[in-house]
Amino acid sequence: METWNDGYSVGVREMDEQHKRLLGYIAALGELLVTRDYELMHELLAKITDYGRRHFTAEERLLERHGYPVAVQRAAHESYLEWMAETNVRAMTEVPVAEIHAYLRQWWTTHILGEDMGYKDFLNSRGVR
Ligand SMILES: [Fe+2]
Repeated sequence: METWNDGYSVGVREMDEQHKRLLGYIAALGELLVTRDYELMHELLAKITDYGRRHFTAEERLLERHGYPVAVQRAAHESYLEWMAETNVRAMTEVPVAEIHAYLRQWWTTHILGEDMGYKDFLNSRGVR
């Protein structure tokens, strides 16, 4: 079960908390590979979709407020949301849990350690923590 650790900290408590929650949902999705509880899969996908969208809005607002260039973030978030929308449609007729879980785990860890980590020093140096 992959969870958040200090290595994922982007230096801003609110963003870290949201990332923790998202990685928690993804870990719970990973457990379905064993339990095969497909009803729970739909619940988790809905949570991941809704909470992810709220997180992106909060993150983009935070970055904009402090003058951090937001275009790369926004493009990454938008392409993710498109994938998520397509995946939700697919999940109505299929249950590709392993594939969805692998993609989500890969996307979020890469995004947090990549694009998101890019704003850490910028925000911290402006007193945002
Ligand atoms: Fe982000």
